[in-house]
Amino acid sequence: MCGIIGISAKADVSNDIMTCLKSLSYRGYDSAGMAMVGDGQISERKIKGKVSNLEDYIKNNPISGNCGIGHTRWATHGEPNTINAHPHTISKISIVHNGIIENYHELKTTLKDNGVNFISDTDTEIISQLINIELMNNKQPLDAFIHAISKLEGAYAIAAIFSDYNNLMIASKVGSPLVFMKSKNKTIISSDAYSIAEFGNNITYLEDGDIITSQNNKIHIFDRALNKIKRPSKRISKRTKDGLNGHEHFMMKEIKEQPDVLSYALSNYLDFTEFDIKENKFDFDFSNVERIIISACGTAYFAGMVAKYWLENIANIKVDLEIASEFRYKKMFFDEKSISLFISQSGETADTLAALKYAKQNKQRVISIVNAEESSISNESDLVLPIFAGQEIGVASTKAFTCQLATIASLVLYLGGLKGAITKEQKETYIQELMHIPSQILQSLEFEQTIKKISKDIYKSSSALFIGRGSTLPLAFEGALKLKEISYIHAEGIASGELKHGAIALVDKNLPVIVLAPDDLFYVKNLSNMNEVYARSGKITMIGKVDNEHLKGLAINGIDIDITGKFNIPIIMAVPLQLLAYHVAKLKNKDIDQPRNLAKSVTVE
Ligand code: F6R
Repeated sequence: MCGIIGISAKADVSNDIMTCLKSLSYRGYDSAGMAMVGDGQISERKIKGKVSNLEDYIKNNPISGNCGIGHTRWATHGEPNTINAHPHTISKISIVHNGIIENYHELKTTLKDNGVNFISDTDTEIISQLINIELMNNKQPLDAFIHAISKLEGAYAIAAIFSDYNNLMIASKVGSPLVFMKSKNKTIISSDAYSIAEFGNNITYLEDGDIITSQNNKIHIFDRALNKIKRPSKRISKRTKDGLNGHEHFMMKEIKEQPDVLSYALSNYLDFTEFDIKENKFDFDFSNVERIIISACGTAYFAGMVAKYWLENIANIKVDLEIASEFRYKKMFFDEKSISLFISQSGETADTLAALKYAKQNKQRVISIVNAEESSISNESDLVLPIFAGQEIGVASTKAFTCQLATIASLVLYLGGLKGAITKEQKETYIQELMHIPSQILQSLEFEQTIKKISKDIYKSSSALFIGRGSTLPLAFEGALKLKEISYIHAEGIASGELKHGAIALVDKNLPVIVLAPDDLFYVKNLSNMNEVYARSGKITMIGKVDNEHLKGLAINGIDIDITGKFNIPIIMAVPLQLLAYHVAKLKNKDIDQPRNLAKSVTVE
């Protein structure tokens, strides 16, 4: 995951930037760099590989200055190489950036048509180029910065320095995290509170749309409407130092990390410049594959259910899906035209590993989708597709689930193209839709306050039902699992159409029923099922395409997730379910990160 640092101070800041880059490196990265202002010019050092490579490089080619920026890059647009590494310096401006600029293609095309030459393949360079154009039009740095970022769509945290202003740093954020710390002698901004915790005790979190300027250690903060404002600072708690980054629980931290980690997961497999698949990531002979056998446990199994839905409906490939603890003892129908796919966050789950070994004993070729790349399941696999969620500490899986789905979506697109089930144009459209996932996740995170209120209607219940169809049926199971594992409320996921075959007997005025009804081909069917629940006085919370009519009539609560896109729907709709489970558990005062009886890595049968 990219990390950004900016420091402006009364003395040389190069060593401090290096210290912060080292602290940021736990996030994972493939190149690093820094830029400093001194004597009316910007000097930049960047290199592919580890921060230690950068440190050696700078030892031999020192730079210094009282104002500088630093970056650890995890490649999204463009290969991990030195040219694409940050900072991106154009003439009198240098910037570092974390996030994805979604309208990068349009902006780049327009700039190119106007004669701008690009040096790198990154989306970030667009920002440097835009600011540079404004500076060349004699705008002051802050104006130039504001003008440039007003053209950006997507999620980002940016920090900029200017060669003509040897102590000026400007930064802003939308979606991606950004904090700052001010002491007597320096101002530090960072995408990660943890990375600067050793420099002081007080930290301020910026909000979306905020712009901060720091010059000669005087700071100003502006909100989205450019009003001068103050943001409250917090004492850095032991939790921040421990990596909680200001959150009360790892589960919430991990839920909130999803825009970031999903953009990395997706851009590992998809090329958002050409709207194509990075085929080299799928180095495996799929030519004779006619059937895929998928196996996993728990949340990973529900990701497998979504995989089955997508592989069959989009890539036209037959899928058999088995819970790993059943798979390992079952007669499985392996043949030379089938391969086995195992999904596991930890890569160590005993049942999944045993199922994998059973498949291998039967001469199956094996693919795995894992978070822990150094794990038993990875080691045993012929092809490993990492999900890049970063370490997941909360026992209830959140970001790993959505990153599993993002990785599966990429595999489905690759196979769909290979098997001729989707055209080049369809593939491009799907990739364009997937590019919006990080910002759509951000929008769904904005429902947190509404979800907190909804939690009050649920936390006293002894039971809850989640219903869905198509790609949201696995989410009904996942939503129920999340709720039961951390709040200890009994919950069940059920196919909306199955209600009338039994479970509807449970419905009364005390039963919360969470209806997953996105804008897909099952919408009207889901509404009919919702009516069935309403007729029996069930307490409906509707998540999906919710309009006032539904709220006035059928549902007591609604979360309007206004998205389409076969891949986007289940990924985005997972977020309100995670938030709901979290807030219900919080109201019940449960141990959210370490629920009773559960372990993060289930290495026993
Ligand atoms: C639920 C959860 C578990 C895991 C399951 C498989 O929130 O985390 O259901 O999904 O134990 O674990 P992995 O993915 O490590 O194989």
